[in-house]
Amino acid sequence: MTWKTRIINNVILAAGPLARLARAAQQGAAKPVAAPMRDLVWGKLNFLHTTDTHGWHGGHLKESQYSADWGDYISFAHHLRKEADEKGIDLLLVDTGDRVEGNGLYDASDPKGKYYYDIYREQDVDIICTGNHELYQAPTADEEHRQTVPNFRNKYIASNLDYIDPSTGERVPMAQRYRRFQTKNQKVDIVAFGFLFDFMMNANNTVVQPVRETIKEQWFQDAIRQKPDVFVVIGHVGVRMQEFKDIFAAIRAQNWFTPIVFFGGHVHIRDAIAYDSKSFAIASGRYFETIGFMSVDGNIKKSDISSEAETTRSVSFSRRYIDNNLLGFYHHTGLNESSFPTEHGRNVTAMIAKGRKELDLDYNYGCAPKDYWMTRRPYPDENSVYTWLEKEVLPDVAVNEERKDIPRLAIFNTGGIRFDIFKGAFTKDTTYIVSPFTSGLKYIPDVPYSVARKVITLLNRSGPIFQAAGVEAGVPDPRYMGIPEQWDGRRGAVVDRDHFSQAGAGAKSQHGQKPLLMDGNGHGQEHPQSPKEPHLIEGYTTQDAIGDDGDDAVHSAIDYYNIPNCVQAEIGIPKDEDEKPETVDLVFIDFIQPWILLALRFSGGESYSKSDVKQYVEGTFTELMSGWVKKNWGVDC
Ligand SMILES: *[C@@H]1O[C@H](CO)[C@@H](O)[C@H](O)[C@H]1NC(C)=O
Ligand SMILES: *[C@@H]1O[C@H](CO)[C@@H](O)[C@H](O)[C@H]1NC(C)=O
Ligand SMILES: *[C@@H]1O[C@H](CO)[C@@H](O)[C@H](O)[C@H]1NC(C)=O
Ligand SMILES: *[C@@H]1O[C@H](CO)[C@@H](O)[C@H](O)[C@H]1NC(C)=O
Repeated sequence: MTWKTRIINNVILAAGPLARLARAAQQGAAKPVAAPMRDLVWGKLNFLHTTDTHGWHGGHLKESQYSADWGDYISFAHHLRKEADEKGIDLLLVDTGDRVEGNGLYDASDPKGKYYYDIYREQDVDIICTGNHELYQAPTADEEHRQTVPNFRNKYIASNLDYIDPSTGERVPMAQRYRRFQTKNQKVDIVAFGFLFDFMMNANNTVVQPVRETIKEQWFQDAIRQKPDVFVVIGHVGVRMQEFKDIFAAIRAQNWFTPIVFFGGHVHIRDAIAYDSKSFAIASGRYFETIGFMSVDGNIKKSDISSEAETTRSVSFSRRYIDNNLLGFYHHTGLNESSFPTEHGRNVTAMIAKGRKELDLDYNYGCAPKDYWMTRRPYPDENSVYTWLEKEVLPDVAVNEERKDIPRLAIFNTGGIRFDIFKGAFTKDTTYIVSPFTSGLKYIPDVPYSVARKVITLLNRSGPIFQAAGVEAGVPDPRYMGIPEQWDGRRGAVVDRDHFSQAGAGAKSQHGQKPLLMDGNGHGQEHPQSPKEPHLIEGYTTQDAIGDDGDDAVHSAIDYYNIPNCVQAEIGIPKDEDEKPETVDLVFIDFIQPWILLALRFSGGESYSKSDVKQYVEGTFTELMSGWVKKNWGVDC
């Protein structure tokens, strides 16, 4: 059956009382809505892939299309493994890091992750690695090493990451450098690696080795000369980034005919690309919205063909981006609300519910009067979260009592906001979902206005000279101030406000300008469509290098607008050019300090250094933001 014929079944299904259909997931989570589905195409070797889950293991309680939780994923993987066992094929689970930071379930506890580590470990992941978010804060890296690495003892791989033991000061590999193992059913011989992109902003208790250096090391050179059936490279790396291309080239140079599969992440998009006819790479989105599925079929094992005939070895690949949605899970397993949840899955759903309750994540700080979008509206716009920051939040919270009469520019990087704000309750959970970071506001006093005013343009439109100077000064790429969804280069880091009509969740709506609106109960509002078409819910309409048929659920598209790296609030600065102040305080979120100092050098402020930077207000930006919500938005939703 093609998905077109399934539409009919599913639309009939959708007409039934949906509330009855979803029993797992978190209580109060938005009920899933049926969509026309594309099936999984199984091969001999199959993978499920999560990446950049950022603490969303409780699922998206306010978005019906992603409202399943980690317990449901455990049930889902269990059923698919069983199916693989019955067919005599293999299924492996992969996770490529950034499991932490970005959701109350991880961030709201003290210490952070009090519930997360035990919830996450319940899934049986076969190959797992580290993301940059495990490494920004030294205590996070410590916990990763103390908990997740041993929880996944022989599954955890750290090909280019070392840890510095706090007791001995000794530098040791974060985990094993690579893993060689055989699959359960077909004994497919696999050599697997686990990489992190060339990350520079880690705390000082880890060491990230640039990938181009790691691949010259003897252990790597030896590993790629082993002759497995398949190489599996997982990494917290975008699938179009240079790091993966370098690894691919190194492995391929030694193994002309061996299949190589890549699992990537970091850039928060759904993507897939073939580097050549025997290789395939998939990236599986962000925030536990997506479970990536990849299959490899054909001559998986060298023994499938005689050694003389190696040149004839042929493999094929398939990919599917599965929405984290119970109805989809039922569809792909052929089960229903009563037969789907396993005891183990239910237990984990209960663990999550307990954690969420103890953390009081539903505590309401205030009521958002409307939706505020990151990229579904342009910047500036009355529904842009960044316009809200610029016009409402920053002028109120960027206030130092002793210097409140001094005009100032307050700069905030757009990557500091991680998610949309939906109309309705802005809860404790929302706080961390929108702003998980511990950054605060710093400033440089009394900067000549003529110098300070140029900084924002350099940050937003960092040209090649600025970038080259950054490389020389050891300052990371300016695009890392922006949102991950724009890092991979398909949506430019140097941004204008043009509508960008390509890729990922961002394809321009074909059905007019109306974005998905969340009503008070968090249900997605459907597009009005002609009676002949099925009703489609807005969601991912992915365009990857393979085509536009990757998503499991058929959605209508969501608008996407490019946004700049940074936005700026001008506080106490007159509009009239003749009345501009001589000097201003240059206030900024501390995450962007390296770029601010670099930009000052370029705009004529050569003499500024770290020692000129001072704290502007007490508290993290996250606290300032939730304080603002409490003060300005009533709690009566
Ligand atoms: C990391 O930096 C902190 C604070 O500057 C210092 O106390 C600590 O000794 C450093 N650790 C290592 C392993 O260098
Ligand atoms: C679920 O499937 C089982 C087994 O096929 C069937 O007995 C049961 O009636 C179904 N339940 C629902 C709610 O459809
Ligand atoms: C689920 O939890 C119950 C109660 O704590 C426990 O007895 C049972 O062993 C657990 N089952 C699984 C599969 O984890
Ligand atoms: C950079 O930010 C400023 C201030 O927020 C904004 O007005 C400007 O349009 C941005 N520049 C670009 C190139 O996006």
